[in-house]
Amino acid sequence: MKTVGFIGWRGMVGSVLMNRMLAENDFNACDPFFFSTSQAGLKGPDIGRGASEVADALDLNRLAEMDIIVSCQGGDYTKDCHPRLRDNGWNGYWIDAASTLRMEKKSVIVLDPVNRRVIDEALSRGVRDYVGGNCTVSLMLMALGGLFENKLIEWMTSMTYQAASGAGAKNMRELVSQMKAIGDSANSLLSDPASAILDLDRRVTETLREKSFPTENFGAPLAAGLIPWIDRPMPNGQTREEWKGQAETNKILGREDHPLPIDGQCVRIGAMRCHSQAFTIKMTRDLSLAEIEEIIGGHNAWVKVIPNEKEASLQELTPAKVTGTLSVPVGRIRKLNMGPTYLTAFSVGDQLLWGAAEPLRRMLRILIE
Ligand code: HSE
Repeated sequence: MKTVGFIGWRGMVGSVLMNRMLAENDFNACDPFFFSTSQAGLKGPDIGRGASEVADALDLNRLAEMDIIVSCQGGDYTKDCHPRLRDNGWNGYWIDAASTLRMEKKSVIVLDPVNRRVIDEALSRGVRDYVGGNCTVSLMLMALGGLFENKLIEWMTSMTYQAASGAGAKNMRELVSQMKAIGDSANSLLSDPASAILDLDRRVTETLREKSFPTENFGAPLAAGLIPWIDRPMPNGQTREEWKGQAETNKILGREDHPLPIDGQCVRIGAMRCHSQAFTIKMTRDLSLAEIEEIIGGHNAWVKVIPNEKEASLQELTPAKVTGTLSVPVGRIRKLNMGPTYLTAFSVGDQLLWGAAEPLRRMLRILIE
């Protein structure tokens, strides 16, 4: 059995990964070891066969004993340890949730329901670094994989509605703290049915603008609002999150030499862990909606076409419905006024599952099977 070292298994993505691996019995298919930068010597997680002692994640000799390393520890750890391990001659497989190595020539972005061919080719070439993609990009490809596979996309935009979890665990807490601050200050007016709506609105606005309103992590109120900026600026006016749309999609699909144009605006909204996206797609051919829906829905086992109806959209196409599941619903599919080759669609997906942990888990499975 392959030895697998896990680093960063206590964090948010790491915990989701552990839960998924337990649910799929993955720990029985490998020999797992747990590493930590701060908990060495303590007991590791109970994975159904008793907890083992945690090893030091900075001990390169111990790490080098692993056939495979799975890191959810974050970019700084990857930057520090990965090159030193490689320089020491370690030739194992490195699976990473962080973006550090994503665009390196020597690494592949993994999303096997979409790019298994690219992964298999890389394995046969001896590629050793496999990196999870940006959550928005992975969820977009899970949703629209059928259109890409059938070469039906000439260009597209994705306008995103991204959840707090994409910014980190502290941000999720801050979002709920913001909701609580609003709820607390509005409570007396809210519980009086006779109170004037504009008084309630004023109270909420005053609360959002108070110095004490918790914005340390987001830098602005997210609850009862949104933030139209994610990650750092790029020289061309995009944010880095927007830049990833085209760069990562084309790398995942193995078509960096003839990239599809993809762009859009990335916006943070007050969902907990589901990213949503509205697409505008310029199609290469005029297909009927029925054909398009069949192609989208038939691409993988998790994508699901939702009829473009109010009731179905309210029931099936919301973060509340999708959160905590692997389902990737795509709805609001229709042709735009611009013409018969202009398509729009809307999709929702859990950014901690298909957006983060699940592609890593499945890559590990490919390596240990
Ligand atoms: N960058 C993403 C976000 C999450 O901020 O929502 C990680 O892919």
